[in-house]
Amino acid sequence: MSRTSRFTRYATAALAGALLLLAGCERPPVDPVQRGYRGTGMEVVYNPRAVELQVPLNQPPAPPGPPGPNEGPKASQVYQNVKVLGDLSVANFNRHMASITAWVSPQEGCAYCHNVQNFADDGKYTKVVARRMIQMTQKVNADWKPHVAATGVTCYTCHRGNPVPAQIWFKAEGQDKKANFIGNLNGQNTPARTVAMSSLPNDPFTPYLLNDLPIRVNGNTALPTGNRSSIQQAEHTFGLMTHFSKSLGVNCTYCHNTRQIGGEWNGNPPQLVTAWHGIRMVRDINNGYIVGLTDVFPANRKGPTGDVAKVNCASCHQGAYKPLYGAQMAKDFPELLSYAKPADGLPPPVSEAQRSVLFFNVGSATLEGEQAKGLVQLIATLAAQPAAKVTISGYHSAAGDLAMNQELAKNRALGVRDALVAGGVAASRVVLDKPLQTEANISGEDPVARRVEATIK
Ligand code: HEC
Ligand code: HEC
Ligand code: HEC
Ligand code: HEC
Repeated sequence: MSRTSRFTRYATAALAGALLLLAGCERPPVDPVQRGYRGTGMEVVYNPRAVELQVPLNQPPAPPGPPGPNEGPKASQVYQNVKVLGDLSVANFNRHMASITAWVSPQEGCAYCHNVQNFADDGKYTKVVARRMIQMTQKVNADWKPHVAATGVTCYTCHRGNPVPAQIWFKAEGQDKKANFIGNLNGQNTPARTVAMSSLPNDPFTPYLLNDLPIRVNGNTALPTGNRSSIQQAEHTFGLMTHFSKSLGVNCTYCHNTRQIGGEWNGNPPQLVTAWHGIRMVRDINNGYIVGLTDVFPANRKGPTGDVAKVNCASCHQGAYKPLYGAQMAKDFPELLSYAKPADGLPPPVSEAQRSVLFFNVGSATLEGEQAKGLVQLIATLAAQPAAKVTISGYHSAAGDLAMNQELAKNRALGVRDALVAGGVAASRVVLDKPLQTEANISGEDPVARRVEATIK
């Protein structure tokens, strides 16, 4: 074989390789959109051909007719087993059923969730899951406004006409270490779609979207003074960040200022804050709603380690900076915008100049909901009378184990002391009394017994 022909063969192979590599990149022209001052590199690069394909996939379906007035008999009165949407009129309830069918199981119809011989039957797991999903959607729209704003979400945001949403995740299978000759790869060097085929750790979701390990790894001082984050942790953070970019179809600069990735919020695009809330929202969706359904799902729906399919940023966004490019679908379904928060059943706190009485939930030593407001007047009096002292007594009910009750009453009293100190009262002015048992009422248990009294003496 001559030298030249060998050379040509190598050159052809190299060229073919280069072409292959290039095919993985994006062919020009692309649209750079400037998002900051010139020369700061604050640009997002869009590929118009990719965007063109995305747009039709992200159109919401036409809404059904507007909801009727919520009048006449309610669904809870007419049907037998309605636990979440009972306040809807029968017509609006049926409008809701037709909509979720179109969003989740258009092929399979009502029978995907229902035993059509008896709609009240909860025998199909899909119905049990759907009921929880309705509550989850309500929670997202009502309590995660810092993320979803007025745009909100419906079942369609994730499902898009599929019973199983296209973008879900499972925990990665543990590494097969053979005879333990290989070290811990930490999920690296196994290019995975979860991290845009990079060699970053392939499960950035378990630590950050299920657990709440710290995502921030940068030190905030010039010299290494105490930042213990490892390179491995930084790689996990980068894995998550590639997922963010891919899910939203944007570059890093959509959320970060090139001048300061990490550190201050100031000077970064507002999307950084939206994303921060999004991370907390996804944890709430997964831990508060989906993981709890593990036993309800059949085995064939579960991942290699037996966990349920969970939500990440792509579940809703599916490649768009806002799901469905910000189409406001949820507003046509008022029943998905709010939920009835369970009343805690506690009496309102007593708030007087010389005395506060605060009530606690069973087994809890935390001032929940309205109860913390009961100290406001007392703190004002203490500020006006610098010589006055305040005595705190914790009461407990007669029901249950005495030693545990006394411990609880003590912790409740300590919690109230901390709240007073946080309100500016010097700890030396607070006197703690011994826990006291209240008279048992007939049931042995009543909310009035679980209280702390703080009195100026
Ligand atoms: C994605 C799952 C799903 C689909 C599809 C679905 N439903 Fe339902 N349906 C539910 C859930 C969940 C409830 C219970 C709601 C609650 O507890 O507030 C329910 C309750 C009902 C009830 C009340 C039954 C009773 O007596 O308690 C009726 C009637 C009903 N659906 C009709 C329909 C019809 C008709 C269709 C098809 C157009 C349909 N549903 C499609 C999930 C679904
Ligand atoms: C934030 C994303 C998200 C939203 C919003 C959402 N779902 Fe889901 N849904 C999921 C995930 C994740 C699963 C688990 C996938 C699986 O079933 O394996 C799921 C599963 C289901 C299933 C079980 C399907 C099956 O075959 O296993 C039903 C039924 C369902 N959802 C109904 C609803 C309804 C009804 C709504 C709206 C009220 C809704 N979902 C809103 C993410 C979502
Ligand atoms: C959708 C918005 C978004 C995108 C896109 C995004 N990030 Fe982030 N990034 C965040 C948020 C929010 C945090 C802070 C998370 C927290 O504090 O819980 C963060 C944190 C980081 C951190 C840690 C900063 C520190 O203080 O230690 C690094 C590094 C980082 N991102 C790099 C990147 C890179 C590189 C890209 C592109 C591949 C990227 N990010 C894309 C939102 C984004
Ligand atoms: C339950 C669905 C859902 C999930 C899951 C979700 N988002 Fe969002 N996100 C939305 C909606 C809806 C909006 C639009 C809000 C608006 O109109 O301002 C949005 C907006 C945003 C924006 C602002 C875009 C802009 O241009 O203002 C960012 C950034 C973002 N999401 C990042 C994330 C990240 C990062 C994750 C994963 C940690 C995530 N989202 C998960 C529903 C979701």
